[in-house]
Amino acid sequence: MTPDEFRKHAHVLVEWMAGYMENVESYPVKSLVKPGEIFARIPENPPAHPESFESLMKDFDDILMPGISHWQSPNFFAYFPANTSPSSILAEMIIATLGAQCMIWETSPAAAELEEKMMIWLREMIGLPPEFEGVIQDSASTATLAAILTAREKVTNYSINTNGAEHAGTLKVYCSEQTHSSVEKAVKISGIGRKNIVKIPVRDDFSIDPEQLKEAIINDKRKGQIPCCVVATIGTTGTTAVDPLKRIGEICNEYGIWLHVDAAMAGTALILPEFQWMLDGREYIDSFVFNPHKWMFTNFDCTAYFVKDAGALIKTFEILPEYLKTRTRGKVNDYRDWGVPLGRRFRALKLWCVIRTYGTEGLRGKVRDHINIALRLSEMISGENDFEILAPVIISVVCFRYAPAGYSNDQINVLNEKLNHQLNDSGKIYLSHTILKDKYTLRMVTAQTNLTFSHVERAWDLIKNSARNLKL
Ligand SMILES: Cc1ncc(COP(=O)(O)O)c(C=O)c1O
Repeated sequence: MTPDEFRKHAHVLVEWMAGYMENVESYPVKSLVKPGEIFARIPENPPAHPESFESLMKDFDDILMPGISHWQSPNFFAYFPANTSPSSILAEMIIATLGAQCMIWETSPAAAELEEKMMIWLREMIGLPPEFEGVIQDSASTATLAAILTAREKVTNYSINTNGAEHAGTLKVYCSEQTHSSVEKAVKISGIGRKNIVKIPVRDDFSIDPEQLKEAIINDKRKGQIPCCVVATIGTTGTTAVDPLKRIGEICNEYGIWLHVDAAMAGTALILPEFQWMLDGREYIDSFVFNPHKWMFTNFDCTAYFVKDAGALIKTFEILPEYLKTRTRGKVNDYRDWGVPLGRRFRALKLWCVIRTYGTEGLRGKVRDHINIALRLSEMISGENDFEILAPVIISVVCFRYAPAGYSNDQINVLNEKLNHQLNDSGKIYLSHTILKDKYTLRMVTAQTNLTFSHVERAWDLIKNSARNLKL
């Protein structure tokens, strides 16, 4: 493709992109295809000869688009937000065009220095103390793995990196029953071993019980085991419960344990002064992760990972082959030493574009709107006798169920599961679920970039009417 041909196709594509943004609500929110349907329509073999971009786009529309679920639809209320925004998409176009590998400062100084500055902007925006340094990772799962590996190395005096785990003793990692599965995955693959994750029971509001955490730590120490890391969550995946950071921090401080905080989605709410309470106890945190690629209008991938002792992180990950030795080493940030991958995309550019085009006040306004919409939705749900709210509404997730009188819990579970599938199969809205205290729970996330209250009002009417017409 010559630059002129590229120019022609890119203009057409930009029209397609803008049209998609305008018309995203006209698609079924959740893809309605059956397993194997798309696969069967893709030719067995790759083409031997070049095909036109036009034919490719036609197949994209005809074959692939039916198999896309529309996360950018304001009628998408499932899982968590994976928000894009026009400025983030434009940045992504520049990133792809430059195709720069930002592994070390020298391979793109602007990328390294913009990343350093964006992490300072974000740190100030969310209220982490100034001693924290940040790095962009691809996902919260990767950042949590980095935290657990660093905690592992710190508690064993960096011996597992050198000698392997054979004589290291039994390390323990603590989190709550409601913690995201990425923590268990990290413990499993870090060599600590899945059986050494300790899941602490939660209180009525689904936050960790810190006194049971303390008891578990004391018990393990008595057995000669080594408490290595506690993972606290600000905004659990199921209900956005907030673990009591201060008390957890005091316990970690007393026993010399690394405290990692997973704020994957809810971290964005910290840009609001009225949500700074979630960070009470910040002085005890060793590492902290949140995902601008969830709720901060920065398209996937863009995870902000902060550490208090960047030296410990670097010592855990650095490796220096001859071809990566530079004259600037030690004077600049070579981010390849701050995590697993060597190759790194220029993700800081997305943050730069998003923060500059919205402004911090613009971002605060949108996030505040989402939280207010969740509160208004929960009031509407509470106002109906045959529905109930199942968890405190803290930020932008509402957990509820249809609970008509005269049915057992098992029957109500069946009704709600049916309701969830029926709503999602309608293509009109998309919800997801969790189980809370044996109750099948519908979750509605009100944090999509273009969400307005009228989307939620329409969705709520649909949910109510569908529920009341259900048969067991
Ligand atoms: C609390 C929490 N932590 C971690 C994750 C995983 O995020 P990522 O996909 O960036 O690994 C999620 C995803 O939903 C989450 O809700």
